Formats: sequence, C-alpha cells, structure tokens
Amino acid sequence: SPRTPLIAGNWKMHGRLTMARELASAVAHGAPAGIDVLLCPPFPYLAPVAVTLQGSHVHLGAQNLATEAEGAYTGEVSGDMLADLQCGYVLVGHSERRTLYGETDDVVAAKFQRAQAAGLTPVLCIGETLAEREAGDTETVIARQLDAVLAQVGVEALQQAVLAYEPVWAIGTGLTATPAQAQAVHRFIRARIEARDGQIAASLRILYGGSVKADNAASLLAETDIDGGLIGGASLDADSFLAICQAAT
Ligand code: G3H
Repeated sequence: SPRTPLIAGNWKMHGRLTMARELASAVAHGAPAGIDVLLCPPFPYLAPVAVTLQGSHVHLGAQNLATEAEGAYTGEVSGDMLADLQCGYVLVGHSERRTLYGETDDVVAAKFQRAQAAGLTPVLCIGETLAEREAGDTETVIARQLDAVLAQVGVEALQQAVLAYEPVWAIGTGLTATPAQAQAVHRFIRARIEARDGQIAASLRILYGGSVKADNAASLLAETDIDGGLIGGASLDADSFLAICQAAT
C-alpha cells in the first residue's frame, strides 16, 4: 500500500497521571519504525505525555476540541491550545461524542474545520449503530456522516485528515467486525471519495476501530483498504498496544 499505517490509541477517560506517563514511556520506547503511532490521552495529561514523548517518533493527539476558536466557553478546549501542547492530531466525531454528548453532523463538521484551522490533523470518526446495520442502512449512515463534513470543507481537506470507521456495535463490546465486513465499508468509503478525487482517495488513511486486540489486528490490517487502527481498551496496556503496532509493520 502507498499509505503508511497509523495505529492510534484512544485512552478515553481512563488512567491517572502516573499511569499516563508510564504507558506513554513504554510506547515511546517500544513503537516500531516504519509506521505512525499516535496517543490520545485525556486533556489534563496531554502536557506531561508530550514531555514523555519528546525525542520519540510517537505523535500526540487529543480526543476532542471546541467548535469555537476562543472566548467565553467555560470548560471547552480550543484547537490552538492543543497545538500549543504539541498535539498534531485530534479525534473528531467519535461515536461517544455523538451519542453521549449530542454532537450532530454539523457540530462534527465545525470541529473538523476548526482542527485544520489550528494546524491539527483531524481523525474523523464515522460508523453505524447496530440498529442501523440491521436495518440495512450502514452505507446510508456512513455516506451522510462523511458528506456532512465534505459539504463544509470540500474533498481537498482530506489531504490533511485521517478517517476512522468504527461500527458502534463493535466499540468496547468485544464484538469485532470481521475483516470482510470492515473491508466492505472501507472500500465503500474510499470509493465515495474516489468519485470526487482519485489521488486524494488513494492517499487517504482509513483506520478501523472497534474491539481491535493483539490477536485480531493482523487479519484486519491485512485488508486492502484498512490502513491502521483506532484502539480503545487495548491501548491501555503497553504490551497489547505495542503488539498491535507490530502487526501493522
Ligand atoms: O476509539 C476507539 C474505539 O472507540 C474503539 O474502542 O477498542 O475499546 O472497542 P475499543
């Protein structure tokens, strides 16, 4: 593949400061060459983890950002603040943000745009729920989530972005999409972008997320259109996360 694999760890709201430092240190020392590795700790641990990662080739990212650039938005964190803290990436539209915090397609599109304006690479997360899959609506939902962002920013914006396909029914459930199920959706996504711009589609990294573990990573990553993983639970254990990184080399 012409695309460098990317393995991203999303720690979600887990851990404490000591654990964050130890985990980041273990990943910094063990991350294999030849792939991109990204850690997304909770906001308060970005600064200490940035220090731990200094001198390594592991990238730092946040899990969320504000739709606004600056101002009276109590409790929000701006893209510029994240860039100050050495973040290169930020997750946008994770299903937990959409489901638990009411982020609409429009909010997600605004965050995507704000991330890029701050010089961050957004990792845009899209995916269907179990009910949507069972109703046969997977492609409709994926297309809607993708088009909402493209309508706002244009297909060119994907040159500085990463996509993550995460079927909601596979997140934290231990139920992984089969490699064939995941590949089918990844192909659908790439084809939809191909229809607008072939070069951008060919170079765009599309990660799979949803119960990726050390023992199923290789078979998922072997699929043509799967360019890496967005890892939740298994990113909290250095050995598991590094084994997944190894599977991507
Ligand atoms: O961002 C990560 C995904 O939500 C996957 O989480 O690996 O715990 O299923 P998981």
